[in-house]
Amino acid sequence: MKVGESGFNLFLIVSTTLVLLISLELFYQHNEWVFCFKNLGCSTNISKCPVGTFRIGNMIDCHDVLGCSSITEDLIITDQVLGEGTQKKVKKGLWQGHEVAVSFLKHLDYLEDFRHGLSMMQLFSEEPGHLENRVVQLIGWCFDKEPIIMTEIHPLGSASRLHAVLQEHFSHQDCLKVRFRMCIEFVQILNILHTHDMGPRVMCDANYPEKALSQFLLTKNLSLVLNDMDALPRVDRESGQLIKCGHRELQGDFVAPEQRWNSDSEYNDTKMAHYDEKVDIWKVPDVCNFLIGDIMGASKIQLHLFNIHSRCKHTEPSKRPSAKDILAIYEQVYKRLK
Ligand SMILES: Nc1ncnc2c1ncn2[C@@H]1O[C@H](COP(=O)(O)OP(=O)(O)O)[C@@H](O)[C@H]1O
Ligand SMILES: [Mg+2]
Repeated sequence: MKVGESGFNLFLIVSTTLVLLISLELFYQHNEWVFCFKNLGCSTNISKCPVGTFRIGNMIDCHDVLGCSSITEDLIITDQVLGEGTQKKVKKGLWQGHEVAVSFLKHLDYLEDFRHGLSMMQLFSEEPGHLENRVVQLIGWCFDKEPIIMTEIHPLGSASRLHAVLQEHFSHQDCLKVRFRMCIEFVQILNILHTHDMGPRVMCDANYPEKALSQFLLTKNLSLVLNDMDALPRVDRESGQLIKCGHRELQGDFVAPEQRWNSDSEYNDTKMAHYDEKVDIWKVPDVCNFLIGDIMGASKIQLHLFNIHSRCKHTEPSKRPSAKDILAIYEQVYKRLK
């Protein structure tokens, strides 16, 4: 081969590679929709562990939920704080080489709620028919000395940080479809809470959108799992027993009208009326709008959701749709997203 010929060949190879790279980049930019859902929100094929067992990291088999003795023997608690709320401080722990989340009670006054949260975690882990976990996996607990609860760690943390997480870790996959998928998952979890055999459960610790979402965690593939279940009172339809979210006055448009003290006189908890799970439905449009944010296409999807979201805001609770009704509409809208 002559020198001139090999030089030309090299030029041809380099320029073809360059053209290919540029086209790929352009294709990627213009087809964000194609890529945006890659690896996200997909269900894994690994089924859930049976009740009373868990599987984390690369574990193949399900392991019995840990009790005090194995926790005392095997759990190392690090100083790294994963997050904290009003009631709990959550630190990173290590169990048999696996990172775990360890929740500590901040004050004994909250012990009752802490126990309630644990029993709700157990109750809703039993939910059949779901391949994926919709509630955080319970790994163990011990109330012998300082009460602790161990759960699966979700390093992306609280769902209230969604927008920061998308920016930091998923900027290429951040699109309307991914965000709207979160609205669907939020309502799917509400539907699980509202349709339990023992009666509907109300998500009480949710007085503004970020607070509501701080009770959920983001999984590695950007799914929602319910984590903080300390305030899920039960509506007992049979005995006609409704609920109240706490004993303090609730204010603001995010909480449902029936949760507010609609009188000029001073708040009196004993006179405050009780209500049901439809208070959660009132909050759905605001939570979903928060999740969608101002991403391209947001105003268009809001038009498609206008009707169902208006129904959620009906002042008469019984006229609001159920979580299942909302899900049906959300799924239709989702299918129409490119
Ligand atoms: N399993 C976990 N993995 C990662 N972060 C967690 C986990 N559990 C809790 N956190 C973090 O700790 C915060 C507080 O937890 P939470 O159970 O909501 O406490 P509180 O009952 O005080 O509100 C969460 O918002 C989240 O940031
Ligand atoms: Mg919380």
